[in-house]
Amino acid sequence: MQKLAIQGGVPLRGEVRISGAKNAALPIMCASLLTADALQLSNVPELHDVATMRKLLEQMGVKACVRGSEMSLYGGQANKPEAPYDMVKTMRAAILVLGPLVARFGEARVSLPGGCAIGSRPVDLHIKGLQAMGAEIHIEHGYIHAQAKRLKGARIFFDIVSVTGTENLMMAAALADGVTLLENAAREPEVVDLARCLREMGAKISGDGTDTITITGVEELNGAVHSIMPDRIESGTFLVAAAATGGSITLTDTRADILETVLEKLTEAGAQIRAEGDRIHLEMHGRPKSVNVRTAPYPAFPTDMQAQFMVLNAMAEGSAMVVETIFENRFMHVQELRRLGALIDVEGNTCMVRGVDHLEGAAVMATDLRASACLVIAGLVAQGETVIDRIYHLDRGYEHIEAKLSQLGANIRRLK
Ligand code: UD1
Repeated sequence: MQKLAIQGGVPLRGEVRISGAKNAALPIMCASLLTADALQLSNVPELHDVATMRKLLEQMGVKACVRGSEMSLYGGQANKPEAPYDMVKTMRAAILVLGPLVARFGEARVSLPGGCAIGSRPVDLHIKGLQAMGAEIHIEHGYIHAQAKRLKGARIFFDIVSVTGTENLMMAAALADGVTLLENAAREPEVVDLARCLREMGAKISGDGTDTITITGVEELNGAVHSIMPDRIESGTFLVAAAATGGSITLTDTRADILETVLEKLTEAGAQIRAEGDRIHLEMHGRPKSVNVRTAPYPAFPTDMQAQFMVLNAMAEGSAMVVETIFENRFMHVQELRRLGALIDVEGNTCMVRGVDHLEGAAVMATDLRASACLVIAGLVAQGETVIDRIYHLDRGYEHIEAKLSQLGANIRRLK
């Protein structure tokens, strides 16, 4: 199993290009199932999750052609509307094929994802939404079997805001008969990027980016050319790494407007931030100040940045509370940070973090994608060497992370 070894204590300096967003690329790739024409994507990040999604689509008969960050998907010959357990278990986002499959082929057989390290993560809202649109759904032997001659427009209220739930139903509704109203929908920028791509394919969608999305179904969708939006979580992760190490970095090909809460928190921690066009510059002098963080759906503070701010607080001046309201078990990184000397008490969904003046390198284990990012930042800050085991989680969501960090001066290498 591969590991990362990091010698801490070097402030990050320089310029780094931000990749396309994983959480936009995955649903947009699934949109290729909605049309017989080609979907030509650019700025697609080279990640394990993207490769898994491509393999899954190929198993269904979609033809994929990849050249660097460009990917063309042809759904014309797709004929096997099935997502097997061994793929869904490695990547929960595979559930995103469910809506498009029922909408275009009238049937789907998709494995239930099961739990994961950060919580139970059910998909009941995806299922209820499709049922409201007229799909017949049975769960048998761990698989969701869905059937519908043609889905019908419906009014659907989400009692919990769900990102992939909103995306799945938005894709299904694009080919349904009549108007669908998604209420209490997710407002995440990745939902907006998917809506933009669907509109380019001929879908009639409005209200994306607000909590009510209206979709008027059409008979057929066509191909499109679409560039994937920048990854706001990768952007935030590099900014926190620079702030924690007392560095000075510039992100290119990113967007500040979708990172507002994160930039505000970094400013509160003492960082100087300047955003111009598609660039964000951050400079940090001295030790960061503690900042309270409470995760909630967009535009509030993202749960995918919670672990990174935990480590920032762990070495900051003062004490802070970190409250996680989205996932019930997303503090797995706390145990590992304690091994480096962090002082963190956990009570239910709240952590009380008392900043220490230094962390010490140690061997640690990554448990999920964002927890891995937090341990990398911890390793960059800690005195001496930190070795992170199980970094396959990191490769699921961060493109060329050690190359990008090395370019910024970090002392990091992969042990095979
Ligand atoms: C997406 C993101 C993930 C991010 C999360 C929250 C992708 C591929 N992944 O995950 O990186 O951390 O949003 O911003 O975009 N829930 C239910 N029933 C459902 C669906 C969700 O109870 O049918 C609950 C979940 O357990 C969780 C909450 O709703 O507590 C939000 O989850 P959701 O927004 O659906 O997360 P994902 O879309 O899986």
